[in-house]
Amino acid sequence: MANLCNVDGRITPEADARVPVLDRGFLFGDSIYEVVRTVGSEPFGWPEHWERLRASAAAIRLRLDLDETMVARRIAATLAAAGRGDHYVRVVVTRGAGSAPNIDLACATGAPCWVIMVRELAPMSGAPARLALIERLRNDRRALDPATKSGNYLNNVLGLAEARELGATDCVMQNAQGFITEASTSNLFARVDGAWITPRLDDGILAGVTRAHLLAWLPTAGERVAEARLTPADLRRADEIFLSSTLRDIAPVTHLDGRPLNDGAIGPESKRLRSAYQAWYAERLCAHYAPLWRRLVGSA
Ligand SMILES: Cc1ncc(COP(=O)(O)O)c(C=O)c1O
Repeated sequence: MANLCNVDGRITPEADARVPVLDRGFLFGDSIYEVVRTVGSEPFGWPEHWERLRASAAAIRLRLDLDETMVARRIAATLAAAGRGDHYVRVVVTRGAGSAPNIDLACATGAPCWVIMVRELAPMSGAPARLALIERLRNDRRALDPATKSGNYLNNVLGLAEARELGATDCVMQNAQGFITEASTSNLFARVDGAWITPRLDDGILAGVTRAHLLAWLPTAGERVAEARLTPADLRRADEIFLSSTLRDIAPVTHLDGRPLNDGAIGPESKRLRSAYQAWYAERLCAHYAPLWRRLVGSA
């Protein structure tokens, strides 16, 4: 299966896809994006990802010039060209090519540029994570709000690099008030005093689609769950920690700052929940998301 790119409606092999050097996404990270995963030709959780893309667009004052059906049809066409299998789909919308390499929105004269990347989905790693609580802070909500999924990931790029230097596989960042936020590209859940706690949206995190699914699903699996502030001390006394994201589902954490949790093995609760969540996921895709998607792209 080929990795393909759809740039403004034109599908090419990924290696041949181009955006102009005056594109503001390239110059300034002036863009937004979503990552969706498919099972076969149907994305999981498309309506939530679309809503978040719209919210990100509004947050950066970007007027989307395609509606949901048009975007879904472009995705479906690219998936069809890519062939069978499960896919990674990245939808990037930049503010387009401007008249000059100048940040002023008055120079943003072009139409938005829509890039859809379709790649073979690497098998869900589920590989356990080793976390390092790093000194670099998550962006402040009053600066570039982490709730906006923009193309401006440099803070997270550096956070991840710093964690790697410390021998970890991912970082955990705090906010300026000293509360835990999230990892470089995933949300965090910690099991403290028998309940799964995940930081609050107003602690300055991305409102993960997987996080929202887990908040709704965990109680149905008999778990106590809450959105609450977490301190580094809470994290240190947690029995178990896991990360959540579209590409990871539930990724158990085995180490925090080099210290093993559960003697360095995957926590029994995380392990159990991961397989139960995957069963729910498959069921939910067939019963809910696949029919919605087929209606949207006109193949129902
Ligand atoms: C910073 C950040 N937090 C959390 C997530 C998880 O979000 P989702 O579950 O929607 O994939 C991501 C995903 O890319 C992310 O970049």
